[in-house]
Amino acid sequence: MAAPVSSVSHRPHHIIVFGATGFTGRFVAEEVARCAAERTGGGSLKWAVAGRSRQRLEEVLERAAERLSMPEVRTDTEIIVADVSDEESMAAMCQQGVVVLNCVGPYRFYGEPVVKACVENGAHYVDICGEPQFLERMQLEYHTKASDKGVYVIGSCGFDSIPADLGILYTHRQFKGTLTAVESFLKISSGSKGMCGHDTTWQSAVHGFADSGSLRQLRKKFGHKPLPVVGAKVQKRGFVFFSKEIEQYAIPFMGSDPSVVKRTQRFLYDEEQQLPLQYSAYVGVGGLFSVVKFFCGGLIFWFMTKFSLGRRLLTRFPSFFSFGVFSKAGPTMKQMEDTCFSLTFFGEGYSENTDPSKGRPNAKICTQVIGAEPGYVATVSAMVQAAVTLLNELHSLPRRGGVYTPGAAFYKTSLIDRLQNHGIKFSVRDHQ
Ligand SMILES: NC(=O)c1ccc[n+]([C@@H]2O[C@H](COP(=O)([O-])OP(=O)(O)OC[C@H]3O[C@@H](n4cnc5c(N)ncnc54)[C@H](OP(=O)(O)O)[C@@H]3O)[C@@H](O)[C@H]2O)c1
Repeated sequence: MAAPVSSVSHRPHHIIVFGATGFTGRFVAEEVARCAAERTGGGSLKWAVAGRSRQRLEEVLERAAERLSMPEVRTDTEIIVADVSDEESMAAMCQQGVVVLNCVGPYRFYGEPVVKACVENGAHYVDICGEPQFLERMQLEYHTKASDKGVYVIGSCGFDSIPADLGILYTHRQFKGTLTAVESFLKISSGSKGMCGHDTTWQSAVHGFADSGSLRQLRKKFGHKPLPVVGAKVQKRGFVFFSKEIEQYAIPFMGSDPSVVKRTQRFLYDEEQQLPLQYSAYVGVGGLFSVVKFFCGGLIFWFMTKFSLGRRLLTRFPSFFSFGVFSKAGPTMKQMEDTCFSLTFFGEGYSENTDPSKGRPNAKICTQVIGAEPGYVATVSAMVQAAVTLLNELHSLPRRGGVYTPGAAFYKTSLIDRLQNHGIKFSVRDHQ
């Protein structure tokens, strides 16, 4: 589906890709160019790239023009020079765009000035952050300011955590009755060279683990009461277990999905009076040998994140300490082409006309979200479709601006349909 934009403002650009010189930002810029070319007569999508080096941004446009066989990308796309550490340049950038796609990370180090400049200068903000500390701190500190300004700040619009957050919404909608608990299992398949992530995501993980204690303190500041538990309690699993569901060993998923889904559930409970779901997320790690490797690697990682020399070594040698899963060069195109993901949801609840406060669940559902390589293909599609949805369906977002999860922001929009058309497929596998 194309990306016509009904004008929401007189700003020169509908979308600004900030951090377009980064590993992910370059793909985001290409995807925006592709969407702009898909226009169907409903208006054009005007966009620009932004970053701290004009020369590197020119190279990005050059490469995009060549890869897409669209010379106009090089000649017609505006370049905005802006540096996170230069407040004036950030304000000037944000004043020129309706939505800023922030690809500058790690977000814990560089994200806040971008959120602040967007809120103060009336630009909506979308990122692909997978760092719960940053996401929740932005909600705590900027929700009211963004709401007052009518600005939408929507974090975690990449693989972290659109498939999980919208997958839960989808599962809920497909279930006939009262859905009370969902477990998800992530499986990533890759070719002979294995999957690979870029160094900056590794750095985010190292610093996020090192600082995990601060998340508990931060959450206390929200002063939330626990969400009510509806229906039978979700099954408790061990730290490692063999999952019949995905036929491999699985461990709890340590990314941002559980925290993002929980924030969405709280929003839906508060704003839409929807009964909250219990949610547990797991990831497949493979056979027994992989479990041992993962366990040893995990222990070393956890220990080394605790002191600064350890963190320095981890960030200096990502490939060595991650067994090649992360590297400074990032994945090759071949590695990306050979990688895909599936996220399978197993939900249980109570059929229509059954009281969820009584007895065991009597209905089940299995749904799935599948897509291409998660980090730089699915993430890019998800981020750009989130931005296109924001531009086209602003009237269907929550009534007031604020800091939102994707599920909360896009609950009433057609984002799932847009994703279906852009390589991220949602389906029901079984419903009993
Ligand atoms: N949710 C997901 O699944 C997912 C997937 C992929 C990536 N991510 C996240 O996205 C972020 C970017 O990852 P990446 O691998 O693309 O990182 P990267 O290649 O290191 O790119 C970082 C970008 O930030 C820019 N930058 C750094 N400091 C800046 C400053 N002071 N002012 C302006 N720009 C600055 C860099 O510009 P220069 O070129 O000038 O250095 C570059 O464009 C990370 O936080 C990563 O974790 C999330």
